[in-house]
Amino acid sequence: MIAVVIVSKSWGIGKNNDLLLIIPEDQRRFREITMGGVVVMGRRTFESLPGRRPLPGRLNLVLSRDPSFFPPEGTEVLPDIPSLLDRVAAYPPDRIFVIGGEEIYRLLLPYCSEAIVTKAEADPPADRFFPNLDLSPDWILKQEEPPREQNGIPFRYVTYANKNQKQPRG
Ligand SMILES: NC(=O)c1ccc[n+]([C@@H]2O[C@H](COP(=O)([O-])OP(=O)(O)OC[C@H]3O[C@@H](n4cnc5c(N)ncnc54)[C@H](OP(=O)(O)O)[C@@H]3O)[C@@H](O)[C@H]2O)c1
Repeated sequence: MIAVVIVSKSWGIGKNNDLLLIIPEDQRRFREITMGGVVVMGRRTFESLPGRRPLPGRLNLVLSRDPSFFPPEGTEVLPDIPSLLDRVAAYPPDRIFVIGGEEIYRLLLPYCSEAIVTKAEADPPADRFFPNLDLSPDWILKQEEPPREQNGIPFRYVTYANKNQKQPRG
């Protein structure tokens, strides 16, 4: 599994159940990276998608413990992490993308081999955060692209690798 995220300088990811930072170039890259794969998200992130619709061209899996939660067609609900890991077992691990939010990143990061992080040089107030991988002993910097800028926000694409990846059945 691979985590994909855009973070602020403080590793903030969201505010009021919405994205903290919107960079169109990053959104295009997110679409390209995840297209044709499996996207795994928490129920709150699903509720925040435009029009509350599944992401097209991808198998949308939503984690929720709420039995009354019925998402639209094209979306599957999984009630816990073991069910999710069973459901994705047949897919190539590098085509399974963990796309948020905070609760789901924290639960699934140990199973991720990589984290594809867009680091923005902006720091708006946030109420949801991604773990700071620069401070984590489990994660190492694998690749860092040169800085870019769009809509006045400097940002860079960074990939981290998990030195201590947990195996789903291990
Ligand atoms: N910057 C980024 O790249 C990025 C990406 C995605 C999301 N976000 C932001 O992140 C925020 C949302 O994050 P969040 O932490 O509030 O919510 P979340 O992780 O999206 O979803 C949390 C929900 O997932 C379900 N859940 C959690 N643990 C579970 C488990 N073990 N088994 C089954 N279901 C489980 C629960 O749903 P039920 O309550 O239905 O049981 C829980 O309420 C938003 O602001 C969003 O915009 C940012």
